[in-house]
Amino acid sequence: MTYNAQLRVWRGDLDGGELQDFQVEVNEGEVVLDIIHRLQATQAPDLAVRWNCKAGKCGSCSAEINGFPRLLCMTRMSMFDQDQTITVTPIRTFPVIRDLVTDVSFNYQKAREMPAFKPPAGLRPGEYRMQQVDVERSQEFRKCIECFLCQNVCHVIRDHEENKENFSGPRMFIRLAELDMHPLDVADRRDLAQDQAGLGLCNITKCCTEVCPEHITITDNAIIPMKERVAGNRYDPVVWLGRKIFRRKSD
Ligand code: SF4
Ligand code: F3S
Ligand code: FES
Repeated sequence: MTYNAQLRVWRGDLDGGELQDFQVEVNEGEVVLDIIHRLQATQAPDLAVRWNCKAGKCGSCSAEINGFPRLLCMTRMSMFDQDQTITVTPIRTFPVIRDLVTDVSFNYQKAREMPAFKPPAGLRPGEYRMQQVDVERSQEFRKCIECFLCQNVCHVIRDHEENKENFSGPRMFIRLAELDMHPLDVADRRDLAQDQAGLGLCNITKCCTEVCPEHITITDNAIIPMKERVAGNRYDPVVWLGRKIFRRKSD
């Protein structure tokens, strides 16, 4: 069944822009990205939109649809009433390049600051052995497609540009947790999590978990366990005493 949808799309660049209204044909089974492509093909050939896979796997088509962060290619038009206006805007937390395309390099910068996996000295590739239970623990985090919707929705940086320097965001917290839970990783990332990545700024609002298209339980399975590890490390009296003794010995 074909009908015309009322589409409102943000057009502009870093200097400013506005919402523009269009009527675009919709066919059975289509997703919002199909409609954006039809809009490009028929009425707005210079409309900028980023996409690659159209299968929810590359993470590039992130946008806000009626104010909710979503993947354009995984949002079915059948979710909306036919007479409803569908507003599509770029993700808000990162600077706009043009129209629906934003500059997400903040996330790559934060990823570069994260120390890589560090196996025990002398262990060569092919000699790694892990329990299945340890594999399963971090498997969930490896489903991340780097759509950055969790980064976009987290209020710590969404509403506070000034926090960006000291906050790596939920996507980086799952990477931290994955490495910290890895039985063969010998680096201690707990201080880094707290002091550099800004884990303490997260007040567990869980908005990141709500928008994750891969349904990764970011807050409960990564952030909270990392907070517990940091707390155990810093505030456990035995750890505190051990640190003091060690420091005295090495003075
Ligand atoms: Fe996207 Fe989920 Fe990965 Fe965040 S954790 S970047 S929401 S897939
Ligand atoms: Fe932000 Fe997620 Fe924490 S939305 S405040 S990182 S629980
Ligand atoms: Fe790849 Fe949407 S186009 S996730």
